Amino acid sequence: MAAPTLMQCLVAISLLSCVTHAQLSTTFYASSCPNLQTIVRTAMTQAVSAEPRMGASLLRLFFHDCFVQLGGPTWTVYLGRRDARTASQSDANANLPGPGSSLATLVTMFGNKGLSARDMTALSGAHTIGQARCATFRDRIYNDANINATFASLRQQTCPQSGGDAELAPIDVQSPDLFDNAYYQNLMSRQGLFHSDQELFSGGSQDALVKKYSGNAGMFAADFARAMVRMGAISPLTGTQGEVRLDCRKVN
Ligand SMILES: *[C@@H]1O[C@H](CO)[C@@H](O)[C@H](O)[C@H]1NC(C)=O
Repeated sequence: MAAPTLMQCLVAISLLSCVTHAQLSTTFYASSCPNLQTIVRTAMTQAVSAEPRMGASLLRLFFHDCFVQLGGPTWTVYLGRRDARTASQSDANANLPGPGSSLATLVTMFGNKGLSARDMTALSGAHTIGQARCATFRDRIYNDANINATFASLRQQTCPQSGGDAELAPIDVQSPDLFDNAYYQNLMSRQGLFHSDQELFSGGSQDALVKKYSGNAGMFAADFARAMVRMGAISPLTGTQGEVRLDCRKVN
């Protein structure tokens, strides 16, 4: 299960800890909270069974935290990231690529955070789970050329040209609740939901990698895990920097 190990990071950042170390470590809570993994795994299992979208929501939260995270791979999470004492919507908008982004923008924005194009393409595979609002893919299903016509018609049925902004559609048309490599197979049949997804397979630099991931689930899993570790290490606040938020939505 990928989501529980992911949650180890997420809950770790929101757990009160008496210790302060100056860097991330996989054993950060070994003495202050030795049962952390069990506690997080149990809470995560309950959260996902109550609301299946929670896995995708937490993947997204981890992404947002590290850039401004149901199956699948596991990896050893570096713990001890602390929360910022500030929050900025404009910084978030400036640092996070939107669903209409071009390949060049995706490569640049990930590059700005020290992540390679390969990391970016692997991390995009997180779109193998989760759902998206009509407002985020409307332009693609009505106006994009690089889209499977059957798929466009299917999505248009529940995402009208005007209104219905909040209508949801699965990001992975094949297996919306499974963490697998179907996302890349979808791109090859022009069934990426976001414009930014399809950009990874549109005659550009990432086509070859998408093709590899689509046929090699193990390669995708290994690259995804490696890239998640790299993303988790982006400009961390550690030691006495920042704070541990009591409510992750707002500063203490
Ligand atoms: C369009 O999607 C369908 C599945 O809905 C697939 O069978 C077909 O091959 C796709 N067409 C193209 C051109 O990729």
